[in-house]
Amino acid sequence: MDSPANPLHALLNTIVCGDAVDRLRELPDASVDCTVTSPPYFQQRDYPSEDQIGAEATPADFVQRLQTVFAECWRVTKSTGSLWVVIGDKYIAGELQGTPWRVALALKEVGWRLRSDVIWHKPNAMPSPVRTRPTTDHEYVFFFTKSKKYFYDADAIREPHVTFTEKSQMRGGRGHFGKRGGTPEQGKNAGNSNLHTGNWDQAFHPQGRNKRTVWSISLSKFREAHFAVFPQKLVETCILASCPPEGVVCDPFVGSGTTPLVARELGRDFIGIDCVEAYCEMARRRLASNSHRGGQPAGNTT
Ligand SMILES: C[S@@+](CC[C@H](N)C(=O)[O-])C[C@H]1O[C@@H](n2cnc3c(N)ncnc32)[C@H](O)[C@@H]1O
Repeated sequence: MDSPANPLHALLNTIVCGDAVDRLRELPDASVDCTVTSPPYFQQRDYPSEDQIGAEATPADFVQRLQTVFAECWRVTKSTGSLWVVIGDKYIAGELQGTPWRVALALKEVGWRLRSDVIWHKPNAMPSPVRTRPTTDHEYVFFFTKSKKYFYDADAIREPHVTFTEKSQMRGGRGHFGKRGGTPEQGKNAGNSNLHTGNWDQAFHPQGRNKRTVWSISLSKFREAHFAVFPQKLVETCILASCPPEGVVCDPFVGSGTTPLVARELGRDFIGIDCVEAYCEMARRRLASNSHRGGQPAGNTT
């Protein structure tokens, strides 16, 4: 990291064009803190590149290609690092393929440790004409880590308490909320072992309860891209939880550049990769037009 000859320095804070595996191979071992990415979905779109992933004939071929990409991601990730993969499923001839879980299990085979399967609920998902099954309004966000011990800042992504309703009978419940001294550390609840052992999920933690595994986040409104763009809030949650301040965030399927944009706003370095030059240009433009909000425009490494 510290040597000027380190190839990481040439790629840091740039959007690079090329196949994800080829470009990841240029990175040194253990140089990335956290990868946040959404790979192409199986047979969902036709990206204008001969390197494109997603157009394979079978789900098995698709999963194998992603496995190769994420094996390379594993190599470039620090031992404390992590990976967030956002991926949706697909119906073919009326049958759900189960692709997200096939991908998740394939990633475990190349060393990733699966920590969470988050459901990304999309409150503003497009309506669909189906009448023979529920309309899909979610995707998966799989959270993996490289090792048993890893960086995770639970406090950075806490969510508001909702456990205790007005009618709750739970001891020490809502009556203490928002009141001075109403925490396990001090005041009326001090020393309550139920709270201290986490049995009640840190119910009185002043910063909120631990993040849950269903995230309700509306779809993004960035119009320039014709493919699914990450909501910034989704990327923000992943980065705050698993990339230390000033760490390095990677997205090997960067598309319109949402991950680099959010990484830079949060004071992290980034590396973005995409096989379509037009998308790389789009991501660079987006970063340049938002550069007043912090950081430098992205470099141009092709
Ligand atoms: C679902 S989009 C990512 C959208 C992105 N999360 C955003 O916020 O804009 C997937 C991207 O993967 C890129 N892609 C497909 N195959 C690739 C490959 N082999 N290497 C690198 N990028 C690839 C596509 O060009 C596309 O931009």
